[in-house]
Amino acid sequence: MSPELEAAALFLERFGSKAPIVVQAPGRVSLIGGHTDYNEGFVLPMAIDRRTVIAARPRTDRIVAVSSSDFPDTRFDLGSLERGTGWAEYLKGVAWSMGADSLPGWEGVIVSTVPLGASLSSSAALEVATALTFATLTGQEWDPVEAAVMSSRAEVDWVGVSSGIMDQLISACGLADHAVLIDCRDLTQTPAPVPSDVSVVVLDTGTRRQLTESNYNQRRDECAEAARGFGVASLRDLEMPEVDNPPHGISDVAIRRARHIVGENQRTLAAAAAMHAGDPARLGSLISQAHISLRDNFEVSSPALDAIVEAAQASPGCLAASMTGAGFAGCAIAIVEETAIDSFIRNTEERYRAMTEHTPSLFTCRAASGASVVTTR
Ligand code: GLA
Repeated sequence: MSPELEAAALFLERFGSKAPIVVQAPGRVSLIGGHTDYNEGFVLPMAIDRRTVIAARPRTDRIVAVSSSDFPDTRFDLGSLERGTGWAEYLKGVAWSMGADSLPGWEGVIVSTVPLGASLSSSAALEVATALTFATLTGQEWDPVEAAVMSSRAEVDWVGVSSGIMDQLISACGLADHAVLIDCRDLTQTPAPVPSDVSVVVLDTGTRRQLTESNYNQRRDECAEAARGFGVASLRDLEMPEVDNPPHGISDVAIRRARHIVGENQRTLAAAAAMHAGDPARLGSLISQAHISLRDNFEVSSPALDAIVEAAQASPGCLAASMTGAGFAGCAIAIVEETAIDSFIRNTEERYRAMTEHTPSLFTCRAASGASVVTTR
């Protein structure tokens, strides 16, 4: 059953009437462009057909009351928002960043098919779906870029995770059959068609992040320090010859972080060009190079991610594999020839099981459009 139908059915069961509003916002994979977003660089994510659905109806008071298929029920008052802990913080954060004073209460159910904490942006999908629920209830015009910026503000300034803009932006702005090249300096977007004879396969290592936030924030700090060391406002402004001839006294870590970001920006632009040229082999080679740089220069991979990437690369039909998202655990992706999908999945799972004690989960995904209203009456 689709998550839309499931949410609508749960709503009916719980409230005894049809949900007047159903919205969805997708998770994402990042094909290439790892950790470049907060360095004002280029990213190439695609929204996927795993999504978070909210079925809701307005209330006459200022209470938001929600049941979820993944979490305990939650309830808060828009008139007295207070920081707390738990998944409701994402909803509260969005309400706060949209201006809670002008928002009405609502009640509803949330169903998500985005695996949690797996680097597929389950939190961005929840934030953007929440923003769209509020926008629909108030009849506000939906500006996806503005909604992404507000959702990102919720995550950074309310929830307290210093992530970049990529996840919210692609969840709001995704395009069917396309990845989107985003310039994170000015948020301009250029669609890049996914080649028709390949599939993107999500490779879930079965590991989940621990201490990710502190590792992630540490990388952000290291990039800021590297930019200072090289005398640029942001690593976006650096060129490879400068990385090859670093100023005296700059740390080895700073040089490696800078090498990753500068190389990754070049690879990401080249990958978008390869997609436009319909050249999956070139795209694949760039994505595999990205994994090596994320592993060695940026040090955000993990033994499980490296193992599943290696297992994928040794399996039939594989054009590329790389970790995706923040790293440290969770998912990698592979670009696989359409005709080889079944044997690719079987082979990769077998190899990975032989290499680690974790249980993998592999599934193909399609590039999906961004957040949308599914039904309103
Ligand atoms: C997480 C963050 C993004 C981005 C990626 C790494 O998904 O939320 O902003 O930095 O990691 O590319």
